[in-house]
Amino acid sequence: MNKKIKVLISFGTRPEGIKMAPVIKEIQKNSDKFDLTLCSTGQHKEMLKQVIDFFELKPDIELSVMTQNQSLSMLSSKIIGSMEEVFEKTCPDMVLVQGDTTTAFLTAFIAFYQKIKIGHVEAGLRTYNKYNPFPEEINRQLVSKIADLHFAPTKNAYENLEKEGIDKIKIILTGNTVVDAINWGINKIENKSEKQKSEDVRYLENLLDLNKKIILVTMHRRESFGEEIKNVCEALKFISQKYKNVIIVYPVHLNPNVSGPAGEILGNIENIKLIKPLSYEPFLWLMSKSYFIITDSGGIQEEAPTLKKPVLVIRKFTERAESVELGISKLVGTDTEDIIKNASLLLDSKDEYKKMVAVVNPYGDGKASEKITEAILNYF
Ligand code: UD1
Ligand code: UDP
Repeated sequence: MNKKIKVLISFGTRPEGIKMAPVIKEIQKNSDKFDLTLCSTGQHKEMLKQVIDFFELKPDIELSVMTQNQSLSMLSSKIIGSMEEVFEKTCPDMVLVQGDTTTAFLTAFIAFYQKIKIGHVEAGLRTYNKYNPFPEEINRQLVSKIADLHFAPTKNAYENLEKEGIDKIKIILTGNTVVDAINWGINKIENKSEKQKSEDVRYLENLLDLNKKIILVTMHRRESFGEEIKNVCEALKFISQKYKNVIIVYPVHLNPNVSGPAGEILGNIENIKLIKPLSYEPFLWLMSKSYFIITDSGGIQEEAPTLKKPVLVIRKFTERAESVELGISKLVGTDTEDIIKNASLLLDSKDEYKKMVAVVNPYGDGKASEKITEAILNYF
């Protein structure tokens, strides 16, 4: 094929932006071979803007599908309507989607209706539990049914796809692009002078006493809304009271189902700092300064090994079993007592802590985006 390959990359949420950024940069490096269109659905607004700014992305198409606390059906109907028009105007040879969000699934689904080829970045993650994570497990399984190229981040993911009957020729083991993204981010930050340091990093430096142990917390999963979020918050409150040499820093997701209970239970506690979502630069800084991390985030489970930070995963199931198998993360669930017990163990015992410090990164070598780009070239 002599003409350029027309690729459309779609993203809508914070993690899709972060994990697609290095793929975008790699494809842009090969502009003699690719004609790239960037489409942001705007599923996230403020949280995606932070990513677009940090990674210096320039979407060609910016949809605006977010309204406050909308239902999944409302969100879905807006994406379906808009993507049809986007594809009619741009006619790509291939669309790339990332992960398991509503943006990823519906972009792929509408591409399928128009018989456009689909490449799935971060394919093959599974819990095989329909409602956990919800709706992500089904979103990603459905993308696997219709994708033409599956970029598996790990051997486990590769094998899941193989077991599901996908032709091996269509599965490429690439590593996770999150490793490429974190490397790019660290490099950008290291090349900044003290004066250029982000305002948010200065704000955090003033906010936190770094002589204390920092526990970084994030939480946003839909399957935890309600009682489970409250249970986790009760555990954090208890830990903050038991350990006065600890500061819990919690950048709260903007979803009101999360910020509501977090504010009610954890507001006004001296050693708990509830803060706004951070841009990637201050977030990387905060991860690097933390003693360990408590999270239900997928991306953070994958980033933590690069920064050698133990993770307590506040979920019942994880598709990032690689870290659990290596002993560098622990699946502690959302029960108050279990979270307190496991956090106390890390705070009380240096030996237990050391066991959870990563030696290797099971999620990739930072070359995923190159492998993805090469595979697309080979495919065409
Ligand atoms: C979404 C993804 C989830 C991903 C997560 C990353 C789906 C169904 N869920 O979940 O897979 O792990 O993003 O964070 O695709 N909001 C804002 N501003 C923002 C972002 C969100 O105000 O910048 C609020 C809005 O009220 C919005 C709500 O959060 O309606 C929920 O956002 P939504 O994208 O539907 O789901 P997330 O929980 O963010
Ligand atoms: N992140 C960020 N600022 C924050 C919290 C997280 O930049 O305040 C980054 C984090 O480093 C990771 C990604 O956002 O790369 C994870 O996003 P999230 O937890 O929202 O989604 P998930 O990965 O669970 O889909």
